[in-house]
Amino acid sequence: EKGGYEHFMLKEIYEEPKAVRDTISPRLKDDDVVIEELGMTDEEIRSIRKIDIVACGSASHVGMTAKYVIESMARIPVEVDVASEFRYREPIYEDNMLVIIISQSGETADSLAALRDAKNHGVRTLGIVNVVGSSIAREADNVMYTWAGPEISVATTKAYSAQLAAMYLLSMKFAKVRGMLTDEEFAQLRSDLIQLPDQIESLFGMKEKIQKFANRYLAAGHMFFIGRGIDYAIAMEGSLKLKEISYIHSEAYAAGELKHGTISLIEDGTLVVAVATQEKLYPKTISNIVEVKTRGAFVMALTNLGHTDIEKNADYVIYIPKTSQYFTNSLAIIPLQLFGYYVSVGRGLDVDKPRNLAKSVTVE
Ligand code: M6R
Repeated sequence: EKGGYEHFMLKEIYEEPKAVRDTISPRLKDDDVVIEELGMTDEEIRSIRKIDIVACGSASHVGMTAKYVIESMARIPVEVDVASEFRYREPIYEDNMLVIIISQSGETADSLAALRDAKNHGVRTLGIVNVVGSSIAREADNVMYTWAGPEISVATTKAYSAQLAAMYLLSMKFAKVRGMLTDEEFAQLRSDLIQLPDQIESLFGMKEKIQKFANRYLAAGHMFFIGRGIDYAIAMEGSLKLKEISYIHSEAYAAGELKHGTISLIEDGTLVVAVATQEKLYPKTISNIVEVKTRGAFVMALTNLGHTDIEKNADYVIYIPKTSQYFTNSLAIIPLQLFGYYVSVGRGLDVDKPRNLAKSVTVE
């Protein structure tokens, strides 16, 4: 069933363009986003005062990205919590609030408990779920499915990408209804979104290059992933992907936080993966690259096509194709998924079933 691939994870990475396309295309019309499952009138969308996104693991990194996207594009305040914190922290529920639960399996115990808590307080809930008919899909007031198809590998890849796509659509819908996007801006976002699947596919061409690079780090003791804004969310996901399947310790840091402690861990040759796709933050992230380089780090940078100047400061550069600043996670994550994959393969580990982990965490 691996369709000729050595592991489900690689097969599922190759299914990402389709997962994103299938999630987007039924909902993206010429001049609007139509999400019937949302079950909200334009009036109700306009009255949303606050959004809480609740999820676990990779799905919470989608939530982090969505916070940046929704706040900037639709100007609605967004909080993001991991479900195991949210449910015990006595969240403040308000009128006209929306709780969004993101879950591939739809069975994650803490996410389900958070959903029930919100419902018990009379708050409207929306599930972004991959498995049709799962508990979260059944219990949420409304459910917007990600159409990634069955995901077998414990490390999520295509479901993650489909979740991002769903959140972009939601953000565009909210922004449009609330009058935050001009027709031109909407048209540009729409065309960037439509291009994403092909752009993801084009990144698979780097597979061999990334495998070669990964092979240099099979014995690494630890690594760092840094970035700002959406790039920080990408760093979080890149780091999780690596550690869950390669068992190499890694940490993701908001780049500006480095000098508040972590930079003392940088030694000669420590690998720092620096994500710099956000144009506004680019010069700031470059300063952080210089800081870690000065302390001996080896820097692998991920940035947008055209930023060849980064080669002055980074040791190894991966370029991603041009897209909207809101959507770069969908492209930058592909090389990072491949990197984690090849480190795991190179170390001879059980890529699809890493030790101590389960595909769906149904215990609290
Ligand atoms: O099924 P869910 O999306 O609710 O699962 C959430 C996490 O357990 C999951 O994303 C986990 O972090 C992945 N193994 C990461 O690759």
